[in-house]
Amino acid sequence: MLIAYTREVSPALADCELTHLEREPLDVAGARAEHEAYESVLERLGAIVRRLPATPHLPDGVFVEDAAVVLDDVAVITRPGAPSRQPETASVETVLAAHRPLVHVRAPATLDGGDVLVAGRKIYIGLSTRTSRDAIQQVADQLTPYGYIVIPLAFTGCLHLKSAVTRIADDLMLLNPAWVEADAFIGYRALTIDPAEPHAANALALGGAVIHPLHHARTRARLEDAGLTVVTVPQVELAKAESGVTCCSLLVEVD
Ligand code: GLY
Repeated sequence: MLIAYTREVSPALADCELTHLEREPLDVAGARAEHEAYESVLERLGAIVRRLPATPHLPDGVFVEDAAVVLDDVAVITRPGAPSRQPETASVETVLAAHRPLVHVRAPATLDGGDVLVAGRKIYIGLSTRTSRDAIQQVADQLTPYGYIVIPLAFTGCLHLKSAVTRIADDLMLLNPAWVEADAFIGYRALTIDPAEPHAANALALGGAVIHPLHHARTRARLEDAGLTVVTVPQVELAKAESGVTCCSLLVEVD
């Protein structure tokens, strides 16, 4: 059974953190409708959607991926790099404690889950404005006993590593080669985004399909030409908050 933990969009979403985007008017009702459509797609693809407690006072609370990294046998509770986001982890920790042993990123180190790309026993972690080198070392020290190999990775141009690259099949990465080196992923094939859609590398593989934002039609064509089944979601308002399709859920396999 696959549980997808989500959280409702905060009424304060327009006050979210922004790193690489200019702030522009954001329609919170529209963002809520987009998030509900996304939750419906998660359900259609086989996940059981459970909402975490609402955090109306935390603008970025909907981006639950940044609060934890869930692996088969352990979960990492992060310490997000934006101080405004650090209170988001408490409710995530409470819920995940029922499913996995937990390890933690400890102060002063910081790490956002959006910088963590899991590929089997390899875990690529992007060095970013949110994720520090000492956090990567802490994660490596705590996950090595579980048999994981942690690989630090440089990238540019975007907020999180998974804005630049996501794993869309067992042996395939979708990536923006202007933001991350394809050669970093030894043993994986690379499918590149359409250059007109630099933000199109964030995709979520689930239930035999790939969830991808509706407005990235050119990259969608590349995914379909590669034989993938694409399920689209609207992400116009959420994208103004530097969202992605991986950010809005935490996937947990349970017996
Ligand atoms: N607004 C998403 C983030 O900056 O964390």
